[in-house]
Amino acid sequence: MIFSSSLNRNLNVIREADVSQRKAHHPKKDDELGWYHGNFPPVPFVDGRFLFVLHVGAGSPRPGERTSPLHETERTMLDKLKEIEKTALESLQSITDQAALDAWRIANVGRSSPLMMVFAEFGKLSKEEKPVVGAAANRVKVALESALAERAEAVKNAALAKSLEEEKLDVTLPGRTKHIGRLHPSTQQLRRVLDILAEMGFQVYTSREVETDEYNFQLLNFPPDHPARDMQDTIYIEAGDRGDNPIMLRTQTSPGQIRAMREFAATNPNDPPPIRIASPGMCFRHEQITARSEIQFNQVEGLAVGKNITFADLKGTVADFVRRMFGEGARLRFRASYFPFTEPSAEVDVECFVCGGKGCQVCKNSGWLEILGCGMVHPNVLQNGGYDPKIYSGFAWGMGPERQLMLRNKINDIRYFWGNDVRFLEQF
Ligand code: DAH
Repeated sequence: MIFSSSLNRNLNVIREADVSQRKAHHPKKDDELGWYHGNFPPVPFVDGRFLFVLHVGAGSPRPGERTSPLHETERTMLDKLKEIEKTALESLQSITDQAALDAWRIANVGRSSPLMMVFAEFGKLSKEEKPVVGAAANRVKVALESALAERAEAVKNAALAKSLEEEKLDVTLPGRTKHIGRLHPSTQQLRRVLDILAEMGFQVYTSREVETDEYNFQLLNFPPDHPARDMQDTIYIEAGDRGDNPIMLRTQTSPGQIRAMREFAATNPNDPPPIRIASPGMCFRHEQITARSEIQFNQVEGLAVGKNITFADLKGTVADFVRRMFGEGARLRFRASYFPFTEPSAEVDVECFVCGGKGCQVCKNSGWLEILGCGMVHPNVLQNGGYDPKIYSGFAWGMGPERQLMLRNKINDIRYFWGNDVRFLEQF
C-alpha cells in the first residue's frame, strides 16, 4: 500500500538518488521497482481541505529492498503542511474580532481542519516517514496555536482600547445618589399614634374600607335620613338595588366599632370579653377638595368596652394620650359636642403649641387646636355590637393623624398629603 504525496523534501533527495541508482541497475518500469512515481496531487475538497489519495497494490518490494517506499510527488505531505501553515498564518493577520478568531480556530486547528487531517492520516505513513512528518506537523500545530494566542491577545487589547476610547468616563463627575424612599408622613404619624396606644394597652384592629350603609351609619345610630349624615358626604358604589343598604366607601373608621364588638362578642356571646382596640385606616368622603378638605384621609378609631367604664376613664385615657403625643406639659380641654353613636359626646382641644395658647394664625387666634371627637358609646351601639348596655359601657374616639401633623408642622394645605410632591414628602 502506498501513500502518495507523503514524503518530505530530504527524503525526496535521497529517494531521487536512489531512483537514479536503481534505474541504472534495473532499467525497468518504475512500478516494477515496487514503488510508485505517479503524479497525483491531493484532491481538494470543497471546503479547502485535502484528500490524500491512497493507492493500493502498486507492486511489492523485492527481497532485500526497502520496505518503506519513497515517492516523488509534486506536493509532499511536508509541502502540504507548509502550505497549511502559510495560509493559516496569513488569514490570521486580517482578523480583528473575537468571532472571526473563533471561526479561524475551528477552521485551522479544529478537529476537522486540514492540519488535523494530516494527523488523522498519520497512521498510514511508513516507519521512516512518521517521525519526520510527525515532527513537522507538531511544529505547525504549535506555531498555529501560539500565533492564535498572540492574535487573541492583540484582539482583546484592541477591543479594550476601543471601549476605553468610546466609553470615556469622567471620574471627576459627582455620582448619582441613590434615592432612598421613606414612609409617607401619614404612615409615620399613624405609627406614632399606634405606638403610644399600644403602650396603653390598645391592640390594632383593622377593618374594611369598603362598607355597607348599615355598618357605616345605621348600626352607629344614623338611621336613613338622619341629619348628621350631611356631615359626611358619601361615595356610594353602584351595586344593584340594595335599597337602604348601598355599598359605599367608609366615611369614618367608626364602623370598625361594630365589627370589632361583634367579633369579640361572638367568642363568648353570654359574657363578651372586654375590648381595647385602636383601628386605623383610610376614610373617604365626597368632598370638594380644598386646602382644608380632601376626599381621602386617615383616622384612628379608639374603643374601650367593659364593665364599669366611665367618662373619667375616657378623660384619663385621652389626657394620657395627649401628653404622650404632644409632651408632658400639653394642656387639653373637653368641649361638649354631638355624635349619634356616643352619649355624652365631646371634642378635645389641645393648647396651641405654635403660640403656646396666646393665639395665632394656626389656632385662628383661639389658642386651642381640635384634635379628636369622643364620647361614651351609645347604648344602641353597644346593643348592635352584641354587648348588653345594662351590663357593659364603653368609650370611643376618632382622631385624624393628618390633622395632627398639620397642627404639629404648621402645614397649611391638606392637599400636600396626596399630591405626591417629593419636595413635601422629603421633609418628613
Ligand atoms: N367618626 C367621627 C367622625 O368621623 C369621629 C368620632 C367622634 C369617632 C366621636 C368616635 C367618637 O369614635 O366617639 O367625625
